Amino acid sequence: MPAGKILVVDDDKNLVELVKMRLESANYDVTTALKEKDALEAVKAQPFDLSIVDLRLVRQDGISLMQEFHAINPEMPVIILTGHGSIESAVEAMKRGAYSYVTKPFEPQDLLLQIEKALEKQRLTSEVRRLKGLLEEKYDFANIVAKSEKMLSILETVSRIAKTDSTVYIHGESGTGKELIAKATHLASARKERPFVAINCAALPETLLESELFGHEKGAFTGAIRSTKGLFTQAHEGTVFLDEIGDMPASTQAKVLRVLQERQFYPLGSEKPVAVDVRVIVATKKELEEEVKKGSFREDLFFRIHVIPIYLPPLRERKEDVPHLVDSFLKKFGSQMKKEIQGLTPQAMQRVMLYDWPGNVRELENAMEYAVAMTQQNVIGEQLILQTKSIPREGAGPVGTSELSQETPKPLKEARDAFEKDYICHLLQVSQGNVSQAAKLAGKYRADFYDLLKKHNLKADDFKKSQ
Ligand SMILES: Nc1ncnc2c1ncn2[C@@H]1O[C@H](COP(=O)(O)OP(=O)(O)OP(=O)(O)O)[C@@H](O)[C@H]1O
Ligand SMILES: [Mg+2]
Repeated sequence: MPAGKILVVDDDKNLVELVKMRLESANYDVTTALKEKDALEAVKAQPFDLSIVDLRLVRQDGISLMQEFHAINPEMPVIILTGHGSIESAVEAMKRGAYSYVTKPFEPQDLLLQIEKALEKQRLTSEVRRLKGLLEEKYDFANIVAKSEKMLSILETVSRIAKTDSTVYIHGESGTGKELIAKATHLASARKERPFVAINCAALPETLLESELFGHEKGAFTGAIRSTKGLFTQAHEGTVFLDEIGDMPASTQAKVLRVLQERQFYPLGSEKPVAVDVRVIVATKKELEEEVKKGSFREDLFFRIHVIPIYLPPLRERKEDVPHLVDSFLKKFGSQMKKEIQGLTPQAMQRVMLYDWPGNVRELENAMEYAVAMTQQNVIGEQLILQTKSIPREGAGPVGTSELSQETPKPLKEARDAFEKDYICHLLQVSQGNVSQAAKLAGKYRADFYDLLKKHNLKADDFKKSQ
């Protein structure tokens, strides 16, 4: 295999031949051109790895020829050959995008060295681009905060199943990030260039929902003045996200079941089946097993959609994520509102850590938006956090009293463990993952504190400021 394809452009025939011979003996594949026109033709016809261009050509100067090359092949490094005493033009050439220059007369060795360096740089640049591409694939996860083991293992599942076409069943309380995970699954899949079409099954009455999903023919029902394509058709080769599937009316359930089984359906009022290739992701905050038992959700549909279940735990069960979510929301809203927010005061953070966030991530996000909007300082204090509607004021007081004000009382051991875990998270947050400091604050020996970390499955590293 040649070491690279090189184009040499010079109107001096002898020099061109000489360079060609030298480069070929160094294992390069060389094309030569004496005229600008031929050189351009060659660049259009094939991708060269590099070109060597004489600065002073007959018709055109080398710089403008180089620019024409770059219009065709922007990545190709160009080495300029200059006559003695035209250093200024050589510098000008570099400014305009030449990789380097070699002054005539030159030692073949010098030219070879320049070529090698340019090609090496080229290889690095394309490697960097390849890596960036990989990073961009990861980028789908970049806006998802996941520090707790629970969330990390969810992201791992998502990346593992994204490339398959299996139906994904996402369940979890309101505001836990079901839609975010559905989108991430689509973006990490081979379908990412195709549409992601979402529909909230709870938001529409039956006929409308069905016509949205499957489309309808003109006149299929009162008001259907023209035929429309349904979401399943729009999402062809992409992903359909059926949100709140637990609220889907029974007759629609039957139709969706048929689509999943047969991969085709009939638009309302039509007898012609439409075949589609879609990946289906569903989400629900209801316990569908219960709905099946009650008879309000079809069991056969449940088994069809319950292929890859992903459970998003409530925020209170993964409090390690809270400080990172706080950071990320403060950054987001800070930059949106052009405020430089450094963080929460320790008291404010304590409130946030001890609160149970029944509305989960969405509630926390809203609280941070409110706090950023209202704050007049660059550190957000306890008062602002308490003002966000959600956090009960009566919880105000020393650490832990808000825990007591929770509505459904837990058995003492559970409550104590929950408190202990929150308390430790809080200390780690305040000490930014410094175990000695956290142990000191707790009045514990380091070794005992480590035991507590182990007991609650916490890692001090998760609390270190990584960003
Ligand atoms: N891990 C996370 N990292 C960053 N943002 C998150 C995370 N989880 C959720 N969010 C944000 O919280 C908000 C709620 O998430 P989402 O809409 O996905 O929740 P949901 O489970 O679909 O809620 P609902 O059941 O109410 O529809 C969104 O703004 C989302 O971007
Ligand atoms: Mg949702």
